[in-house]
Amino acid sequence: MARAFLERKGVAEARLEGELLVAHALGLDRLKLFMQLDRPVDGAEIDRARDLLVRRGKREPLAYITGEREFYGRPFKVGPGVLIPRPETELLVDEARRVAAELGERELRVADLGTGSGCIAITLALELTLAKVTAFELSPAAILCAQRNAELLGARIEIVEGDGLETLAARAPFDLIVSNPPYVMRSEAATLAPEVREHEPELALFAPERDGDFWARALLERSRSWLAPGGTLLLELGHQQGARVLALAGALGWRASLARDLAGHGRVLCARL
Ligand SMILES: C[S@@+](CC[C@H](N)C(=O)[O-])C[C@H]1O[C@@H](n2cnc3c(N)ncnc32)[C@H](O)[C@@H]1O
Repeated sequence: MARAFLERKGVAEARLEGELLVAHALGLDRLKLFMQLDRPVDGAEIDRARDLLVRRGKREPLAYITGEREFYGRPFKVGPGVLIPRPETELLVDEARRVAAELGERELRVADLGTGSGCIAITLALELTLAKVTAFELSPAAILCAQRNAELLGARIEIVEGDGLETLAARAPFDLIVSNPPYVMRSEAATLAPEVREHEPELALFAPERDGDFWARALLERSRSWLAPGGTLLLELGHQQGARVLALAGALGWRASLARDLAGHGRVLCARL
Protein backbone atom coordinates (compact mmCIF):
# COMPACT_ATOMS: atom_id res chain seq x y z
CA MET A 1 0.00 0.00 0.00
CA ALA A 2 2.80 2.42 0.95
CA ARG A 3 4.69 1.48 -2.21
CA ALA A 4 1.68 1.96 -4.50
CA PHE A 5 0.89 5.34 -2.90
CA LEU A 6 4.45 6.64 -3.32
CA GLU A 7 4.65 5.30 -6.88
CA ARG A 8 1.52 7.24 -7.76
CA LYS A 9 3.17 10.37 -6.36
CA GLY A 10 6.22 9.88 -8.58
CA VAL A 11 8.71 8.76 -5.92
CA ALA A 12 11.38 6.73 -7.73
CA GLU A 13 12.38 4.22 -5.05
CA ALA A 14 8.84 3.84 -3.78
CA ARG A 15 9.20 0.38 -2.25
CA LEU A 16 12.41 1.08 -0.35
CA GLU A 17 11.26 4.48 0.87
CA GLY A 18 7.85 3.14 1.88
CA GLU A 19 9.55 0.51 4.01
CA LEU A 20 11.93 3.04 5.54
CA LEU A 21 9.08 5.38 6.43
CA VAL A 22 6.89 2.66 7.93
CA ALA A 23 9.88 1.43 9.93
CA HIS A 24 10.57 5.00 11.09
CA ALA A 25 6.94 5.42 12.18
CA LEU A 26 7.23 2.24 14.27
CA GLY A 27 10.56 3.29 15.77
CA LEU A 28 12.38 0.43 14.02
CA ASP A 29 15.06 0.13 11.38
CA ARG A 30 14.20 -1.58 8.09
CA LEU A 31 15.76 -4.91 9.08
CA LYS A 32 13.80 -5.05 12.35
CA LEU A 33 10.64 -4.22 10.42
CA PHE A 34 11.09 -7.44 8.43
CA MET A 35 12.00 -9.44 11.52
CA GLN A 36 8.84 -8.27 13.30
CA LEU A 37 6.28 -8.75 10.53
CA ASP A 38 3.85 -10.39 13.00
CA ARG A 39 4.08 -7.49 15.43
CA PRO A 40 0.65 -5.93 16.06
CA VAL A 41 0.40 -2.29 14.94
CA ASP A 42 -1.74 0.15 16.96
CA GLY A 43 -3.82 3.06 15.69
CA ALA A 44 -1.30 5.73 16.69
CA GLU A 45 1.42 3.94 14.73
CA ILE A 46 -0.79 3.70 11.66
CA ASP A 47 -1.55 7.43 11.91
CA ARG A 48 2.16 8.19 12.22
CA ALA A 49 3.03 6.06 9.20
CA ARG A 50 0.24 7.67 7.17
CA ASP A 51 1.46 11.19 8.05
CA LEU A 52 5.02 10.36 7.01
CA LEU A 53 3.87 8.83 3.73
CA VAL A 54 1.68 11.84 2.95
CA ARG A 55 4.66 14.14 3.54
CA ARG A 56 6.82 12.02 1.23
CA GLY A 57 3.98 11.97 -1.30
CA LYS A 58 4.26 15.77 -1.35
CA ARG A 59 7.90 15.18 -2.32
CA GLU A 60 9.43 16.29 0.95
CA PRO A 61 12.90 14.67 0.96
CA LEU A 62 13.13 11.39 2.85
CA ALA A 63 16.10 12.69 4.85
CA TYR A 64 14.12 15.69 6.14
CA ILE A 65 11.31 13.36 7.24
CA THR A 66 13.56 10.88 9.04
CA GLY A 67 15.92 13.70 10.10
CA GLU A 68 19.02 11.81 9.06
CA ARG A 69 21.27 10.89 6.11
CA GLU A 70 24.33 8.68 6.07
CA PHE A 71 27.60 10.15 4.81
CA TYR A 72 30.92 8.28 4.70
CA GLY A 73 29.40 5.59 6.92
CA ARG A 74 28.19 7.94 9.67
CA PRO A 75 24.69 9.27 10.41
CA PHE A 76 24.28 13.03 9.98
CA LYS A 77 21.27 14.94 11.30
CA VAL A 78 19.65 17.14 8.65
CA GLY A 79 16.55 19.26 8.38
CA PRO A 80 15.01 22.11 6.43
CA GLY A 81 17.52 24.88 5.74
CA VAL A 82 20.42 22.44 5.45
CA LEU A 83 21.65 20.69 2.31
CA ILE A 84 21.29 16.92 2.49
CA PRO A 85 24.76 15.33 2.08
CA ARG A 86 25.18 13.69 -1.35
CA PRO A 87 27.04 10.47 -2.08
CA GLU A 88 29.16 12.24 -4.76
CA THR A 89 30.65 14.46 -2.05
CA GLU A 90 32.35 11.37 -0.62
CA LEU A 91 34.76 11.67 -3.57
CA LEU A 92 35.89 15.04 -2.19
CA VAL A 93 36.58 13.39 1.18
CA ASP A 94 38.52 10.58 -0.55
CA GLU A 95 40.63 13.19 -2.33
CA ALA A 96 41.23 15.14 0.88
CA ARG A 97 42.41 11.95 2.59
CA ARG A 98 44.71 11.17 -0.35
CA VAL A 99 46.24 14.67 -0.26
CA ALA A 100 46.61 14.52 3.54
CA ALA A 101 48.41 11.18 3.25
CA GLU A 102 50.84 12.78 0.77
CA LEU A 103 51.47 15.65 3.17
CA GLY A 104 52.38 13.15 5.88
CA GLU A 105 51.49 12.63 9.53
CA ARG A 106 51.34 16.12 10.99
CA GLU A 107 48.84 18.62 12.30
CA LEU A 108 47.19 19.78 9.09
CA ARG A 109 45.14 22.97 9.07
CA VAL A 110 42.00 22.21 7.08
CA ALA A 111 39.28 24.67 6.02
CA ASP A 112 35.82 23.63 4.79
CA LEU A 113 34.01 26.49 3.07
CA GLY A 114 30.19 26.20 3.15
CA THR A 115 30.02 23.38 5.65
CA GLY A 116 26.22 22.83 5.66
CA SER A 117 25.50 19.80 7.86
CA GLY A 118 29.23 19.64 8.60
CA CYS A 119 29.50 16.36 6.71
CA ILE A 120 32.88 17.11 5.09
CA ALA A 121 34.49 18.95 8.01
CA ILE A 122 33.36 16.39 10.62
CA THR A 123 34.33 13.41 8.47
CA LEU A 124 37.79 14.89 7.91
CA ALA A 125 38.20 15.66 11.61
CA LEU A 126 37.34 12.04 12.42
CA GLU A 127 39.36 10.46 9.60
CA LEU A 128 42.45 12.69 9.90
CA THR A 129 42.99 12.57 13.61
CA LEU A 130 45.86 15.10 13.57
CA ALA A 131 43.94 17.65 11.51
CA LYS A 132 42.70 20.92 12.93
CA VAL A 133 39.49 21.54 11.00
CA THR A 134 37.75 24.92 10.69
CA ALA A 135 34.33 25.06 9.03
CA PHE A 136 32.93 28.25 7.47
CA GLU A 137 29.23 28.85 6.93
CA LEU A 138 26.82 31.72 6.35
CA SER A 139 23.48 30.05 7.17
CA PRO A 140 22.50 30.04 10.89
CA ALA A 141 20.37 26.90 10.39
CA ALA A 142 23.32 25.05 8.88
CA ILE A 143 25.64 26.21 11.67
CA LEU A 144 23.30 24.82 14.35
CA CYS A 145 23.04 21.56 12.43
CA ALA A 146 26.81 21.24 11.99
CA GLN A 147 27.36 21.96 15.70
CA ARG A 148 24.87 19.28 16.65
CA ASN A 149 26.43 16.74 14.28
CA ALA A 150 29.91 17.50 15.60
CA GLU A 151 28.68 16.91 19.15
CA LEU A 152 26.79 13.72 18.35
CA LEU A 153 29.67 12.26 16.34
CA GLY A 154 32.34 13.38 18.79
CA ALA A 155 34.28 15.52 16.31
CA ARG A 156 36.27 18.59 17.33
CA ILE A 157 35.83 21.26 14.71
CA GLU A 158 35.69 25.03 14.91
CA ILE A 159 32.75 26.64 13.14
CA VAL A 160 33.04 30.23 11.94
CA GLU A 161 29.89 32.13 11.02
CA GLY A 162 29.85 34.67 8.19
CA ASP A 163 30.69 35.07 4.53
CA GLY A 164 33.10 32.27 3.68
CA LEU A 165 35.55 34.27 1.61
CA GLU A 166 36.03 37.01 4.21
CA THR A 167 36.16 34.75 7.25
CA LEU A 168 38.45 32.25 5.57
CA ALA A 169 40.87 34.99 4.53
CA ALA A 170 40.98 36.18 8.14
CA ARG A 171 41.87 32.68 9.46
CA ALA A 172 44.38 31.66 6.78
CA PRO A 173 46.78 30.01 6.11
CA PHE A 174 45.56 26.43 5.64
CA ASP A 175 47.27 23.32 4.31
CA LEU A 176 44.04 22.17 2.72
CA ILE A 177 41.01 24.19 1.65
CA VAL A 178 38.03 22.07 0.66
CA SER A 179 34.61 23.15 -0.51
CA ASN A 180 31.43 21.86 -2.03
CA PRO A 181 30.12 25.29 -3.02
CA PRO A 182 26.72 26.05 -4.56
CA TYR A 183 27.16 25.49 -8.31
CA VAL A 184 23.66 25.07 -9.76
CA MET A 185 22.56 27.83 -12.13
CA ARG A 186 19.18 29.41 -11.39
CA SER A 187 18.29 28.77 -15.03
CA GLU A 188 18.61 25.02 -14.27
CA ALA A 189 16.09 25.14 -11.40
CA ALA A 190 13.31 23.62 -13.51
CA THR A 191 15.45 20.54 -14.16
CA LEU A 192 15.86 19.78 -10.44
CA ALA A 193 13.70 17.16 -8.72
CA PRO A 194 10.85 18.67 -6.66
CA GLU A 195 12.54 17.36 -3.50
CA VAL A 196 15.52 19.60 -4.24
CA ARG A 197 13.84 22.58 -5.90
CA GLU A 198 11.01 23.00 -3.42
CA HIS A 199 12.66 21.94 -0.18
CA GLU A 200 16.43 22.40 -0.07
CA PRO A 201 17.85 25.87 0.72
CA GLU A 202 18.51 28.19 -2.21
CA LEU A 203 21.68 29.48 -0.55
CA ALA A 204 23.10 25.96 -0.67
CA LEU A 205 22.01 25.17 -4.22
CA PHE A 206 22.39 28.16 -6.47
CA ALA A 207 25.60 29.85 -7.56
CA PRO A 208 25.58 33.63 -7.03
CA GLU A 209 25.47 36.15 -9.87
CA ARG A 210 24.02 33.67 -12.37
CA ASP A 211 27.50 32.21 -12.72
CA GLY A 212 27.83 28.46 -12.07
CA ASP A 213 31.62 28.94 -11.80
CA PHE A 214 31.35 31.83 -9.31
CA TRP A 215 32.84 29.97 -6.34
CA ALA A 216 35.46 28.10 -8.36
CA ARG A 217 36.61 31.37 -9.92
CA ALA A 218 36.54 33.26 -6.61
CA LEU A 219 38.61 30.60 -4.87
CA LEU A 220 41.06 30.10 -7.72
CA GLU A 221 41.59 33.85 -7.98
CA ARG A 222 41.77 34.63 -4.29
CA SER A 223 42.89 31.63 -2.29
CA ARG A 224 46.57 31.41 -3.27
CA SER A 225 47.59 33.59 -0.33
CA TRP A 226 45.33 31.57 1.98
CA LEU A 227 47.28 28.36 1.40
CA ALA A 228 50.41 27.40 3.32
CA PRO A 229 53.42 26.34 1.18
CA GLY A 230 52.58 22.98 -0.43
CA GLY A 231 48.90 23.57 0.23
CA THR A 232 46.01 22.26 -1.86
CA LEU A 233 42.58 23.50 -2.88
CA LEU A 234 39.92 20.82 -3.44
CA LEU A 235 36.60 21.79 -4.96
CA GLU A 236 33.53 19.76 -5.79
CA LEU A 237 32.20 20.65 -9.24
CA GLY A 238 28.97 20.12 -11.12
CA HIS A 239 29.15 17.28 -13.64
CA GLN A 240 29.46 19.68 -16.59
CA GLN A 241 31.91 22.10 -14.96
CA GLY A 242 35.10 20.02 -14.95
CA ALA A 243 36.82 20.93 -18.24
CA ARG A 244 35.99 24.62 -17.90
CA VAL A 245 37.24 24.97 -14.33
CA LEU A 246 40.35 22.88 -15.06
CA ALA A 247 41.23 25.26 -17.91
CA LEU A 248 40.60 28.28 -15.68
CA ALA A 249 42.86 26.85 -12.96
CA GLY A 250 45.62 26.29 -15.53
CA ALA A 251 45.24 29.82 -16.91
CA LEU A 252 45.57 31.20 -13.37
CA GLY A 253 48.83 29.32 -12.79
CA TRP A 254 47.64 26.38 -10.68
CA ARG A 255 48.82 22.80 -11.18
CA ALA A 256 45.40 21.22 -11.38
CA SER A 257 43.78 17.87 -12.06
CA LEU A 258 40.30 16.36 -11.86
CA ALA A 259 39.13 13.34 -9.87
CA ARG A 260 36.36 11.55 -11.73
CA ASP A 261 33.18 9.93 -10.50
CA LEU A 262 32.07 6.45 -11.57
CA ALA A 263 30.33 7.94 -14.61
CA GLY A 264 33.63 9.50 -15.73
CA HIS A 265 32.70 13.11 -14.94
CA GLY A 266 35.44 15.26 -13.45
CA ARG A 267 33.80 16.12 -10.10
CA VAL A 268 36.63 17.27 -7.85
CA LEU A 269 39.24 19.83 -8.80
CA CYS A 270 42.58 19.35 -7.08
CA ALA A 271 44.66 22.53 -7.44
CA ARG A 272 48.15 23.31 -6.13
CA LEU A 273 50.44 26.24 -6.67
C1 LIG B 1 26.35 22.89 -1.70
S1 LIG B 1 26.17 23.29 0.00
C2 LIG B 1 27.37 22.18 0.72
C3 LIG B 1 27.06 21.78 2.13
C4 LIG B 1 27.98 20.67 2.67
N1 LIG B 1 29.35 21.08 2.65
C5 LIG B 1 27.80 19.41 1.86
O1 LIG B 1 28.70 19.06 1.08
O2 LIG B 1 26.76 18.75 1.99
C6 LIG B 1 26.92 24.87 0.09
C7 LIG B 1 26.95 25.51 1.47
O3 LIG B 1 27.57 26.79 1.36
C8 LIG B 1 26.88 27.70 2.19
N2 LIG B 1 27.14 29.05 1.69
C9 LIG B 1 26.57 29.69 0.64
N3 LIG B 1 27.09 30.91 0.48
C10 LIG B 1 28.01 31.07 1.46
C11 LIG B 1 28.89 32.11 1.83
N4 LIG B 1 28.93 33.28 1.16
N5 LIG B 1 29.71 31.91 2.87
C12 LIG B 1 29.70 30.75 3.57
N6 LIG B 1 28.88 29.72 3.27
C13 LIG B 1 28.05 29.87 2.22
C14 LIG B 1 25.44 27.26 2.10
O4 LIG B 1 24.68 27.75 3.19
C15 LIG B 1 25.59 25.75 2.09
O5 LIG B 1 25.55 25.23 3.40
